[in-house]
Order: sequence, then structure tokens, then C-alpha cells
Amino acid sequence: MPHTEREELTPEESDQLLLLPGGHPPLWNHMDSIGSVRLRQREGAPGCSQEGLPCPSDSSELVLECLQQFKVTETQLRQIQASLLGSMEQALGGQASPASAVQMLPTYVGSTPHGTEQGDFVVLELGATGASLRVLWVTLLGIEGHRMEPRSQEFVIPPEVMLGPGQQLFDFAAHCLSEFLDALPVDKEGLQLGFSFSFPCHQTGLDRSTLISWTKGFRCSGVEGHDVVQLLRDAIKRQGAYSIDVVAVVNDTVGTMMGCEPGVGPCEVGLVVDTGTNACYMEEARHVAVLDEDRGRVCISVEWGSFSDDGVLGPVLTTFDHALDRESLNPGAQRFEKMIGGLYLGELVRLVLAHLAQRGVLFGGCTSPALLSRGSILLEHVAEMKDPLAGAARVHAILRDMGLSMGASDAELVQYVCAAVFTRAARLCAAALAAVLARLQHSREQQVLQIAVATGGRVFERYPSFLSILQETVMLLAPECDVSFIPSVDGGGRGVAMVTAVAARLAAHRRLLEETLAPFRLDHEQLAAVRAQMREAMVKGLQGEASSLRMLPTYVRATPDGTERGDFLALDLGGTNFRVLLVRVTAGGVKITSQVYSIPEYVAQGSGQQLFDHIVDCIVDFQQKQGLSGQSLPLGFTFSFPCRQLGLDQGILLNWTKGFNASDCEGQDIVCLLREAIGRRQAVELNVVAIVNDTVGTMMSCGYEDPRCEVGLIVGTGTNACYMEELQNVAAVPGDSGHMCINMEWGAFGDDGSLDSLRTCFDANVDQASINPGKQSFEKMISGMYLGEIVRHILLHLTSLGVLFRGQQTQRLQTRDIFKTKFLSEIESDSLALRQVRTILEDLGLSLTSDDALMVLEVCQAVSQRAAQLCGAGVAAVVEKIRENRGLEELTVSVGVDGTLYKLHPHFSSLVAATVRELAPRCVVTFLQSEDGSGKGAALVTAVACRLAQMAHV
Ligand code: G6P
Ligand code: BGC
Ligand code: BGC
Repeated sequence: MPHTEREELTPEESDQLLLLPGGHPPLWNHMDSIGSVRLRQREGAPGCSQEGLPCPSDSSELVLECLQQFKVTETQLRQIQASLLGSMEQALGGQASPASAVQMLPTYVGSTPHGTEQGDFVVLELGATGASLRVLWVTLLGIEGHRMEPRSQEFVIPPEVMLGPGQQLFDFAAHCLSEFLDALPVDKEGLQLGFSFSFPCHQTGLDRSTLISWTKGFRCSGVEGHDVVQLLRDAIKRQGAYSIDVVAVVNDTVGTMMGCEPGVGPCEVGLVVDTGTNACYMEEARHVAVLDEDRGRVCISVEWGSFSDDGVLGPVLTTFDHALDRESLNPGAQRFEKMIGGLYLGELVRLVLAHLAQRGVLFGGCTSPALLSRGSILLEHVAEMKDPLAGAARVHAILRDMGLSMGASDAELVQYVCAAVFTRAARLCAAALAAVLARLQHSREQQVLQIAVATGGRVFERYPSFLSILQETVMLLAPECDVSFIPSVDGGGRGVAMVTAVAARLAAHRRLLEETLAPFRLDHEQLAAVRAQMREAMVKGLQGEASSLRMLPTYVRATPDGTERGDFLALDLGGTNFRVLLVRVTAGGVKITSQVYSIPEYVAQGSGQQLFDHIVDCIVDFQQKQGLSGQSLPLGFTFSFPCRQLGLDQGILLNWTKGFNASDCEGQDIVCLLREAIGRRQAVELNVVAIVNDTVGTMMSCGYEDPRCEVGLIVGTGTNACYMEELQNVAAVPGDSGHMCINMEWGAFGDDGSLDSLRTCFDANVDQASINPGKQSFEKMISGMYLGEIVRHILLHLTSLGVLFRGQQTQRLQTRDIFKTKFLSEIESDSLALRQVRTILEDLGLSLTSDDALMVLEVCQAVSQRAAQLCGAGVAAVVEKIRENRGLEELTVSVGVDGTLYKLHPHFSSLVAATVRELAPRCVVTFLQSEDGSGKGAALVTAVACRLAQMAHV
């Protein structure tokens, strides 16, 4: 029945075709000759089954039945491939129940080697090769450099260490490390180590990995559920001989994949068959549910050893597999591995041989203590014995040493058993690899896949026949995949060093990032100091002493009492938008109609006359649109700049802020300037009643709903606060009863240098580039006009250090105001964080890695967190002042808030509230977001003024 071309065989026929390497006729063809082998056996030895040796036909049946069990058909292999693929995709999707049979563990390795990695690294390999660990010294010389042979040493791990307390195992590893390094002319300081830990782990970073469960002959206590990197660090510290920084932990499959010979790769699959078996591969990050990533790839450790879909594995598992599993350290676990891993193949052969001996088929029905003791046949024995050429002699030698006497054809039978177990392992491994290849086809939507698979582990290194059976079977199961198998270099040691180099680079970058952001991380003491300094500045400002807080009286003495009525015009200038509003105050509430107008930069920074003429143009346009032309409604003007008020309708502009710089305004009465502009415009009559700061407008607007609202807070383009102060404390205004709303102008807090200890070089850069350097220090650390710029300067700094964007500066990022503060709100939004970062930064012409994206997110978080905490420290100072003013044990007060940054940033408001709770624990503070802005507040102030004026006339 010689058949050449494989594909046209029917499944049944190909099932028959189980080629043994080296062109041996198919194993099964021997089945009919197995019977005849039997006749030549010896009678009556100790440990022999005396009663009725089976007759020749029975014994061949027995052998056939044994070997038949190890036969895995093509159909079964395809079922295993399909089921494993199903489990892989289920686990990738994050579907927890039913628990998928494989774990699909992200490894934080996001790219195959660049080849740029350089440096000397120590590599510690634990778990890949069973009862031994290996230490290597690997020197990477980057792209230009030639490959340097690593120095390595293997240490046998005593069985009691593999089964004892975890601390003992890690101390043993640390001891081996020192012993290895003692022999090398290396420094004792600053060594960087890559830890190849070949067990299933949940990784939460390149250097943080929690052991899920031991496999392969290990079962140390106190390690599962713990971070194995920390355990190694602690052991190295206890050893105390070397200061070694463990910068990366990788699974041996990853080391194998990353250790692919440069120039032949990149390998995108790492396949290990040593004592255990597993594979990793580069998956599209967007397909990994647990990762919040939509671009790039991530290496996934499949952990296929735990594949145990009883449906498809059940028929393949033999009685010997069940027996081996029952005796193993982890019964019921790693069932797939126990059919493939080198730790188990010898034991499977032993169990079959013992079974056949006890059934009188082999060794004359005699066993021996060695044959009956677990682990007495090792992988290398199996490989040697099955070797078609020298195998028979080895069989005799090995089994003689096990105290067994060989029958004439026993050697051949033993070879069949070895071949059956070995071949099944290779075919099952092929089915699993074919599942990974199918996953890669799905993941990359490629029908035809060309891929390089790095192979590692002693089964590959020592027994080439394993690879050829595997290769053949993969071609059968995945004919559309063009797979090249690349033996990994130095057993993956070099690959681990590659990952360590990447991790070392990232760790160095992380340290530089932490150093850069550390000044933004304010602790309780620093914030309490800001609160105290602000409190001191408030008191000085109220008493008219030198202070960076001007504490400007606003002539608003009361918050609305709800009796206000009428129609009012309101203007709202100074925020993101300039608005004109018609505010109708009735018993039923307040109805607002408004229109947003823009203030072009050339107007905001032009002449005062031009600015106010523009404002009147907008008012006239609004009146026309609202059919109010010719009506002279009382007008309230929210003018969000520092003004010394001499009365409700008199406000001398002290200085512009927030990018405004219109000439001939500072030192002028803004209401006059407006009235002059109205005067310049014929046929317009407006009755300007009040000028209020946006903080006051916001307080009044929220106070209309909640009378406890006695503080106004703006965190928008600029920032500021006002509050109801006891008139007796306001030196500038006569009277000592009642209250006066004070516009703190806290944007200028620290202009006297009192905040210099908190100012960073980035704050200085932003200040120097602003149109009012040295001014508005507090504002420039908090408000929307500046946070984006602070972030941009930090990104430029980190890029110059090579930490970000591979050190590539781009023109765009050097452009002022290109990084909008709203980007912070978008980037810090919980839902789409990393994707947002990517979109925003790619729009700025920056190509970035996922690590870059994470670092940009952290920069934004640090800058906005500092801003919110400083703002919270300010509010704490204000509410504490009110509480002490009133000699209260506890104060309940509301704060009316407005401003784009406060409203749109996902965490700003909660960080402010948390800081206030921390720094003013005796104040119960409610933050009320103003819905209608301060225009409504200006109208209410106007309404109160009109009511008071009417009462005065009555
Ligand atoms: C609202 C208020 C304005 C205030 C502004 C501040 O719009 O009505 O009076 O100036 O908030 O926030 P912004 O983010 O616009 O600067
Ligand atoms: C472990 C894997 C490892 C494989 C090969 C298995 O027992 O669970 O993490 O990659 O052995 O060493
Ligand atoms: C101004 C304040 C204003 C704040 C919020 C600051 O720049 O000086 O008057 O309240 O911005 O808009």
C-alpha cells in the first residue's frame, strides 16, 4: 500500500500512515508481527507472574491494545486543534465561565527584539529544565555588535528544595547566583537580572508576576499567589553578597521566542518542550480583553499544559495517563502536559512496560524494583531506546541496569512502546501548535500565514525526531501555514536578556519619569502649608497689608433671598466664551436666554476701545435677535478679572489675566469704559447696574438654589474664589456688622514667592512664555489655560531624555498651546484612556509605543492631581476661615463652582473635594456645579441691587 502524495489519502487511510523518523515502516504495520515476537520468552524468574503466561495470540493482543491506546488519529488531532483554538479565543475574550481550559496569560512583552538592546545582564532560569536551574551572564552588543557567547552554569536543585518551603527555593537560587558571580570578574553593584520563571503566572508588569500554580515536579509552599520577583529580590537581599536589580520576569517560552537568532526572525511564536511544554505567541493587543489596548501586539503565554477539554482529550487519555496523573504531584492538572512534557514520557513508558511485564508479555513476565519505582525511566532513556539504529542495544543496557532480563523480541517491543509514547507526544504538540497558528491566522485575518517558530527545551535540542514528527503533523493539520522552526539561541537565555534589556530601559525610563513627576506629588504637609499660607495671605489682604491675595470687596452683601423679580441683561466676559444673556426672574424661577460670542485674540489683546465696542456690538446683536432693541434693561456685567470695586457698579481693573491684554483698561473703571462704548453707539440705552466677578456671579447663581452657598469657585481658563466675609474683618469697607462678599483673586497667590518651593522648572517655562510672567502664579499651576502647556513642557523634557517617543522631538510638540488642557480630561477619562492618548498624540504627529502612552497618561494625571489638590487646599483655607469667623465647631457650607476644567475633567472635582475633607475636616462642604454660569448670578446681583434701590426709594 505504498502511497506518496499525502493529501489525497482518506482520513482512515492516513490514520494508518504513522511514519516513524528515519523511514521506519508505520508502527502499526508491525502490529500483526507483534504476536509472533512472543514465542521466544523465558519461564519462572522471581517477580515473575507464574500463573499461565498468555499465549502468543493473547500477548500480541495485549501489546497491540497498549500501543493502540497511544495512537491519535488525524480526526482526533483536528478535534484537539479546534477545541484548543476555541479555548484560546474564549480566554482571550475574558470569558470566565465556563473556565477555559487554557489560561492565555499576557506577558507585558509588546514587541519582538529591536536588536538595539545592549548591556550585560544576569539571567536566572528556574523551572524550564526540571531539577536544575541555570545562571547565565549575557552581553548584548546591539545591532552593530557580534553575538557574544554567554557564560552559564547549571545547578542541580535538591528534591527537598523543589518540594520544601518557597523561601528555601529562592534562597537556593540566590546562593547559586552568588556562586556563579563569584567566579566572574564583575562588580558587586548595579547588576541587572532577568528571571526566566517557567510556571503559569499572572503578570501585572514586566517585573511583577504572581505564581498561579506549580507544575512539573515543583511544589514549594508559600509561593502560589505571591509575586515571585519580590520573593527573589528578598532572597538576594538575604544573601547580601550582590546588589542585583531584578528588572524582568519572563516565561521560558517568551525567552525562547525573543532569543531567536537575529536575522532569521523575528520569531513570533516561542515553543518549549522540556520537562513541561508550553507556547507563547504575539497576539493583536485589541483581541486581549484584559488589556486596555487597541493597537500593537502583546506576547501571550498560552499555558496549553492545562488544556484538558475532557471531550476531546478523554478518548486520547490512556489508562497509563490516568495512572501517571494519579501518582503525580498535581493530579487532575496539566493533563495535556503530562502527555507531552519530557518529565512524563519516561514514566509513561515505565508504566506501559510494567503493565506488559505484569501481564507476562515482556521480560518473561518478570518485573524489578526499578521497573516498579516511579521515575526510573527518564526521557533520555526513551529517546535512546527508540532510536532505530542504536536503540536496541540501549534497551538491553538500560533495562539490564534496571534488573530486567530481556526476552528475544523484548527490545523491539520496548522500542515500539517508546516510539508510540514519543510519537504521540510530538503529534499532540503539533495539534496544539496548529491551534496557535490558526489563532494567528484569525488574529491577523491572513488566510496564508508565514511564520517563524522558535523552539526551545531539551526535547528539541536532543531529539531531532521530535521536531520532524511535529513538523510533519503541523503540515498535515495546517497546510496553508508556511512555518519555519528556528532553534532558539542559548536555550532562551539570550531572549531573557533581550527582555531584561527592554525592561531595564523601561525601568530606567520609569525612574526618570518618577524623578520628573515627583515635584508634582504633593503630600499632606505641603498641602497643609499651602492652606496655612493662604489663610495668612487672606488675613493680610483683608487688613490691606502686603499680600499676594488682594481680597477685593465686591459690595455684594447678601446672597439672593428669592424675592427678586424682573428682566435683566447680563454680560459674561472672561471665560472661554463671551456671553450675552437675558435673565427673567419670576416667582416661578429664573429663565435665561443667552448667546455666545467670540472675543478674537486680536480684540482681547487690542485696544480697550476696540474691546468694549466689540462687546456693545454683541449686546446690540443680541437685543435685535431677542426683540429687545431700544429697551434699557438693568444690566449686570460679569467681568472675570481683578477689579478693585468702589461700589457695585464701579470696578477699577487692576490687571488683565488669562491672555487678555487690551490697552488703556488697567487702572480704569470698567463700567465707565462700557458706558463710554454704549455712548459711542447711537440709539443704545443700557442701564449698567452692577459689575461682578465670575466667582461672585457663580456664588449668587448657586445661592439662589441653596442659601448655604457662601463661596464661589472658578476653575476654568483662570481660577479664583470668593466668599462671604464678616464685614468687620474687611478693613477697606467701613462697618462691622453683616457680611461682604470678598473676591480673593487667588490666581495671584504666590506672586510674592510664597509658592516657590512648589514651583517646578516646567512652571517657570510656562510662566516665562506667558504674557504676564511673574503674575498669577497659583493660577498658572491650576487653571485650564496652563495645564496643557505644563504637560507639553514635561513631554518635551522626557523626550529629550529619550524616555518618550524614542527621543524623537517633533516640531508639533514644540509648538506653544498645541497640547490643549482638554486633552488631559480626554486622556484621563477612565473608559478609553490609552486609546485616547494614542489618537491625540498621533494627531500631533507623534508615533508612540504603548509604554509612551502609559507615561503620557501618568504625566497628565500628575499635573491635574497637583492642580486639584492646590485648589482643594485653597478652598479648605476659605471654609476654615468662615468656620472660625463664626466660632463654629463644625461648619456646613456650599460652594458654587463653574469652569470648564472643573466640569469636564473626569477626576478634578473629586480630588478637590477629597483634599478639602483632608485639610478642613470640621467643615462639611457641598460643591454645587453652576448650571447657568455666572451671568445669572450677575443678573441676581443686579436684581438685589434694584430691590434694595426700590426699598431705599419707598
Ligand atoms: C462660566 C461662567 C463664567 C466663567 C467661566 C469660567 O462660563 O459663566 O463667568 O468665567 O465659567 O470657566 P471657563 O472654563 O469658561 O474659563
Ligand atoms: C509551565 C509553563 C512553561 C512550560 C515549559 C509548564 O509546566 O506551566 O509556564 O512555559 O512548562 O517550561
Ligand atoms: C481672574 C479672576 C477670575 C478667574 C476665573 C482670573 O484670571 O483674575 O478675576 O475670577 O480668572 O475666571
